[in-house]
Amino acid sequence: MNRTAVEPNQSTLALTRTAGQHQKNPSNGVFPRPETCDHDRMQAIVQHQYGSAEVLEHAVIDRPTIGDKEVLIEVHSAGLDRGTWHLMTGTPYLIRILGFGFSRPKQATPGLDVAGRVTAVGKAVNRFAVGDEVFGIAKGSFAEYAAASEDKLVTKPAGLSFDAAAVATVSGITALEALTDIGHIQAGERVLIVGASGGVGSFAVQLAKALGAEVTGVASASKSDFVLSLGADYVFDYRTNYLENANCEYDLIVDIGGRTKVSSLRKLLTDTGTLVFVGGEGGNKITGGIGRQIGASLMSIFFKQRLTMFVSGESLEHITRLREFLESGAVSPAIGKRFKLSEVPTAMHELASGLTSGKSVIAVKSSTIT
Ligand SMILES: NC(=O)c1ccc[n+]([C@@H]2O[C@H](COP(=O)([O-])OP(=O)(O)OC[C@H]3O[C@@H](n4cnc5c(N)ncnc54)[C@H](OP(=O)(O)O)[C@@H]3O)[C@@H](O)[C@H]2O)c1
Repeated sequence: MNRTAVEPNQSTLALTRTAGQHQKNPSNGVFPRPETCDHDRMQAIVQHQYGSAEVLEHAVIDRPTIGDKEVLIEVHSAGLDRGTWHLMTGTPYLIRILGFGFSRPKQATPGLDVAGRVTAVGKAVNRFAVGDEVFGIAKGSFAEYAAASEDKLVTKPAGLSFDAAAVATVSGITALEALTDIGHIQAGERVLIVGASGGVGSFAVQLAKALGAEVTGVASASKSDFVLSLGADYVFDYRTNYLENANCEYDLIVDIGGRTKVSSLRKLLTDTGTLVFVGGEGGNKITGGIGRQIGASLMSIFFKQRLTMFVSGESLEHITRLREFLESGAVSPAIGKRFKLSEVPTAMHELASGLTSGKSVIAVKSSTIT
């Protein structure tokens, strides 16, 4: 991607040249608003090192430039997801090895989920025009403007708010892939969703219901009403001994959160059922949650049950399919909390602390108008 504008050295220069425009992360987690007076500049969250939310800074930087197959989006809203938190912390270290920056993030502006209006298009863009309202994935969405490949965007349904569209893509397509392409869900099946109250889980519950399954969600007790409100038929608190007491078997288990013992999950699965690993925190510093998923998937050759993992391909096909569920109203993004751009550190902290239900949205446009 062609993003010359947010090179660390340039932003650091901006700090020394324009005093007061580049705000260090304050103790209360909320930045004062920097001033923009140059039309080629924009407010953004930036980070020049890996770490906790303290590494985030509220800055005025150059707007991104776009490549031939990219569009420039005026960001209305951005969604926060676990992947963005991993990219902020640089953990597990595997993500550094995979090319996101070894000693510091290559992408200085965080944020992936986006919704906004197209303000410029590259020479080879043929799906969008200036003025189109879009949503999808744009690296660096925690900013007033973000560049995105046209293949990571779709038009926003008229009936969907920018906030709702902004939180949909990363978690929604992951849930969709887990249930359909990987889990081969069928109407009438019993589906268990472990981690039902989070970003991916809140979409998985709704999608599984829309696809005709009987859905049981697993979450903390305080979020059980939330999971039921998403449409789940039953809900378990993961702090109780549901693994021993569950009195039915599931055709499909989607394991999104926690580190439940694989042998315990297998006992809840039918003889020919499928266990799809989506995620789960913890593990060692190098591979994190992925280590457990890889190990279990390799063991699958010894069982009749299918144990499998995947990494979302972020394909246009999946974003387009998700859009259909959103447009029809079968799925409504569950927005837990709304934050200003300056409050991204607080939003990150709440995500890491498990205080979020569904997805948090960063209301960029309404919080940056000067
Ligand atoms: N494979 C992929 O392509 C892909 C894509 C996106 C995300 N992911 C991964 O998927 C995972 C979830 O992402 P997310 O955005 O949904 O995160 P999230 O919003 O933080 O949600 C985490 C969920 O896990 C639940 N949970 C926490 N501890 C648990 C336990 N001990 N047992 C059972 N459930 C527990 C939480 O429940 P409470 O909040 O009620 O405590 C919550 O529902 C992350 O590891 C992320 O990296 C993978």
